[in-house]
Amino acid sequence: MSRFREVGVGIDIEPVRRFGLGKKSPLLRKIFTKKEMAYCFEKSFPPQHLAVRFAGKEAVIKALSGLGLKPPSLGEIEILNDRRGAPKVGLKKIYDKTTYVRLSLSHTSDLAVASAVAFQ
Ligand SMILES: CC(C)(COP(=O)(O)OP(=O)(O)OC[C@H]1O[C@@H](n2cnc3c(N)ncnc32)[C@H](O)[C@@H]1OP(=O)(O)O)[C@@H](O)C(=O)NCCC(=O)NCCS
Repeated sequence: MSRFREVGVGIDIEPVRRFGLGKKSPLLRKIFTKKEMAYCFEKSFPPQHLAVRFAGKEAVIKALSGLGLKPPSLGEIEILNDRRGAPKVGLKKIYDKTTYVRLSLSHTSDLAVASAVAFQ
């Protein structure tokens, strides 16, 4: 029998051109944490990394909703990278420690996609 009782999945796709905004954009500052902004704006083409993190947040919201949980706001989700470069999801302590989320991201200069799985 599985260790986990429930699984939720989520997917999202975003056009990169929507994210061609400056570092000081109030919209970006509302959606992304300081660490996410720092990561994206140190890249040679930030819109691609912003777009994929936005898609990641939407995918995480869908996956958590699939578990029947009240979804977090975009700003309550933080997507950073582990030592290998893989995305890791931070959820600002709004769920108990038995709720896990895994995320996969991919992007081109035009499109960004994300797929998430949540389980508890
Ligand atoms: C990891 C890898 C598959 C990414 O593929 P890619 O076609 O270059 O890039 P994609 O657009 O599909 O995906 C980019 C996203 O993948 C994610 N990613 C990066 N490294 C990753 C990894 N090791 N595992 C899972 N996801 C990873 C990141 O979220 C990245 O987005 P970001 O640049 O905004 O942080 C590719 O770089 C690869 O095969 N690397 C060699 C093997 C490896 O894992 N090396 C890591 C050193 S230990």
